[in-house]
Amino acid sequence: MLKLSQLLLNLTLALTFSATLALANESPTNAPSGEFNTVCPISGKPVDPKITTVYEGQTYAFAQDACRTKWLAERENSLYHKLGGKAAIDAAVESFYVKVLADSRIKHFFDDINMNKQRRKQKEFLSAAFGGPNPWTGKDMRKAHANLPGLNETHFNAVAENLQKTLEELKVPKDLIDQVMAIAASTKDAVLNKPVAK
Ligand code: HEM
Repeated sequence: MLKLSQLLLNLTLALTFSATLALANESPTNAPSGEFNTVCPISGKPVDPKITTVYEGQTYAFAQDACRTKWLAERENSLYHKLGGKAAIDAAVESFYVKVLADSRIKHFFDDINMNKQRRKQKEFLSAAFGGPNPWTGKDMRKAHANLPGLNETHFNAVAENLQKTLEELKVPKDLIDQVMAIAASTKDAVLNKPVAK
């Protein structure tokens, strides 16, 4: 015969189990699956978890419907989107670093660099610079290139040349290449740690 304590334990286990089952079987509300941001990327206010969108497989939440509309319009009009989004930019960065690492003018700068990390960072940076969905949270360009002795304009131009060649090989339309190159050029003074004009 079961003791009273054993009975109580069994009862507790049964209740816990059915509660867990009930939770697991609960029909999904409009809560999106997966993790999402808690701060609205448009208004900076806390998000309403019911106002979301899924973009490239990731859920983004907003404070208001108007924020979601604005954010989606920004994505739609971005250079990031015109270039083909995450898949296209990831592929371009992979091909870009094959060229950089084969270029005797600049490859020595990457001798001691973890290239998996570098490729990932460059994908994130360029995606953000082209108007992708996620902001750049890495180092600013001055800090990132502060410890590269001898880095000069010739090296910068070699990197830019490799970027342009990559995009040409990928048959990116010329007007979009021009936009990418203008963004790359806008980082030049920071990458070369030139003094800031006062
Ligand atoms: C269009 C210009 C450039 C852009 C947009 C760019 C972008 C970046 C980014 C996003 C990082 C990673 C920053 C982080 O860790 O948070 C980085 C690091 C680095 N970049 Fe550049 N870069 C540019 C030009 C150059 C040039 C001209 C060279 C040298 C030829 C160079 C060499 C490096 C190296 C070696 C690192 C790794 C530094 C370290 O981890 O200590 N970059 N760059």
